[in-house]
Amino acid sequence: MINKLIKNKRGPWLEIILICTIVFLISLIVYFTLTSNNTKFFNVLSASKESTIEIQNTEFDGIKMITETSISNKMSYKLSYPETKFEDLNNNIIKYISDSKSLYTSKFYEKEKKKGHLNIHFNIYPYKNYYSIVLTKVVTYDFSKYDVEYHTYFIEKDSGNNISLKNILTDNVSHFTLLSNYVQNTLLKSKDLVNRIGKEIIVNSTNPIWENYNCFSIINDQLNMYFNIGETNPTGTVTPTTVKVNVPYLNPILNAAFQTEKKSKNDILSDQKKNRKRVALTFDDGPHQTVTKQILNLLDKYDAKATFFVVGTQVKKNKEVLKEVKNRGHEIGNHTLNHKKLTKLTVKQIEYEINSTNNLIKEAIGEEATVMRPPYGATNKKINQMIKVPVVLWTVDTLDWKYKDAKKLLPMVKKNIHNNGIILMHDIHQSTADGLESVLAYLKEEGYEFVTVSELLAKK
Ligand code: NI
Repeated sequence: MINKLIKNKRGPWLEIILICTIVFLISLIVYFTLTSNNTKFFNVLSASKESTIEIQNTEFDGIKMITETSISNKMSYKLSYPETKFEDLNNNIIKYISDSKSLYTSKFYEKEKKKGHLNIHFNIYPYKNYYSIVLTKVVTYDFSKYDVEYHTYFIEKDSGNNISLKNILTDNVSHFTLLSNYVQNTLLKSKDLVNRIGKEIIVNSTNPIWENYNCFSIINDQLNMYFNIGETNPTGTVTPTTVKVNVPYLNPILNAAFQTEKKSKNDILSDQKKNRKRVALTFDDGPHQTVTKQILNLLDKYDAKATFFVVGTQVKKNKEVLKEVKNRGHEIGNHTLNHKKLTKLTVKQIEYEINSTNNLIKEAIGEEATVMRPPYGATNKKINQMIKVPVVLWTVDTLDWKYKDAKKLLPMVKKNIHNNGIILMHDIHQSTADGLESVLAYLKEEGYEFVTVSELLAKK
């Protein structure tokens, strides 16, 4: 009886406790679900309870500013970063923030026992349908020294999708090479920078590799590319290197969505044409049965077009070779019938030397020579007036006929080469064919484009 009474009394209490527990648990779940967006930040960053967190609105729709400030006097930091409506982007940002924090902690506080301050702040710049988010990380240490690093996101406003430089360029291979050349040359022009950072680091950090170009923004119709070079330099203050290019200048290599309506007098493509380095390779006294063919194969290998000044008597012997020269896209020049000094001949003899050779050339390839080179360069005003096509001498003499040494060809080219140069060689010496590859490789490496004599004269 007593037992029964007690049971009856306890019954409702147990039920009340049970209901209360369930209600409490449900409300706990509801609370965390509703506030999950914010709690993520708290979980990641304030787990140590060393900091305070502040959340503010920004002038940009859907973007909040989170500011985490340290309250511990062991480590000093203030980290401001954006929180967007896009989860992937937020996760990327949080990862950068927490990585920066642990790097700072391990590098300065734990390892080097230095006192310092870590500051991260950000700016947002709208451009068309895109936002550039630029985070600036400043690490101060030893009271006066500081390292600055930029970290950027270029996103589509509506989707939050990350846009890389690869997405921005029309033709992402050749245009990327063009842009990276521009950036590299701009930086190498600064002697101060080269002295401070070193040519090798500049070249390596700006070579056309996409990872080199993942830090950029577009601000006020200007593309800014940031290179965090020298950031680990412990000797002093290091700030990132920035290359700025006006978007109108880049218009012809940008996808339509990124072009600006603003116009520019010159652009990266027209400047490339204007600034390009060109050289005309010329081969005299052939065609030769074996040497000319070897030279043709080498020229093909380097995608090079050249000019062959042929001698009539050689054409007679090697018509098929001349055809091959023409078919492979090279230019044919007239070098007279018997390789005589024209200045020592009568007008009639000069005419014969030139015209008979033109006829032989026409017989072989179906057209006459488009340029003319007098043997030994011996000519005068009168002779030049007799010749209907341009008379072309040379500006770089390799003296290959004299040395007949394959190893001497490249040093002679190196010594005398210049932009828009015309290089004189002879396709009748085996040594010239043997030394040619090193010349082609060198000129290509130096950025020269191989053109025919007529191409060179037309655009000079
Ligand atoms: Ni000659």
